[in-house]
Amino acid sequence: MQTLHTVTELRAAVRTWRAAGERVAFVPTMGNLHAGHIHLIAEARARAPRVVASVFVNPLQFGPSEDFDKYPRTLAADAERLAAADCDLLFAPAVEEMYPGGREAHTVVTVPALSDILCGAFRPGHFAGVATVVAKLFGLVQPDVALFGEKDFQQLLVIRRMSADLGLPVEIVGIPTVREADGLAMSSRNQYLGAEERSRAALIYKVLQEAARALGEGARAEDVEARGLATLSNAGFRPDYLAVRAASDLGPPRAGEPRVVLVAAWLGKARLIDNLRF
Ligand code: PAF
Repeated sequence: MQTLHTVTELRAAVRTWRAAGERVAFVPTMGNLHAGHIHLIAEARARAPRVVASVFVNPLQFGPSEDFDKYPRTLAADAERLAAADCDLLFAPAVEEMYPGGREAHTVVTVPALSDILCGAFRPGHFAGVATVVAKLFGLVQPDVALFGEKDFQQLLVIRRMSADLGLPVEIVGIPTVREADGLAMSSRNQYLGAEERSRAALIYKVLQEAARALGEGARAEDVEARGLATLSNAGFRPDYLAVRAASDLGPPRAGEPRVVLVAAWLGKARLIDNLRF
């Protein structure tokens, strides 16, 4: 596996593959890779002869009081895991390489329809930061297909919408969430949990399963949301939201259409998000 840090090197590598007519699959990450990321690489491997991963902790998507500075950076271990997973190229640029004129002056891509609700209401500017860096990475890597975990379900819809609105020739693939044995969705931020919090964190998925079950039996969304929020609060979580939405556009749930229940809740220093479609 090649590890490249500059745009010039990346472009040259991708150009060679494209000239040979090889398809490119892309997995963008912020590093600190876990089994969920490696599963994305395996799914990418199954879709194209060339697989590119990026590791870039993107400052644009963190708010001023968020965890940008302490987000775990483990590039050497990430490179080893990617090489073992048969990734062809790791692109790991510095912040100055991605935002050479300064991040404040950089062009911003916004997806207004989806960015101010749910996580966007609690993390102003977050999805503009995500859409901007993903659009930029698409321009640099020029993938045929890009893969994202469904744990970040709102992010996945933002990226789909951004890519469709800008007419980018990239197929966006969502991959089901990889979970720990007790149901907790894998996430780099799980390591912010202490041992006791870690065992309590499994409640998040149980609350989602119970919500989907009750809704499937005809319970009202407002009642299910209120019950789920109370269960989490009583267990010491600080929920930002628990909401039932239409799975296609995160609008109000519509009869006969696929729905999704989404949750974001703090436990200690970790903000956990998860969702379940039904
Ligand atoms: O999901 C992530 O790790 C990030 O939001 C992404 C998509 C790599 C953009 O920085």
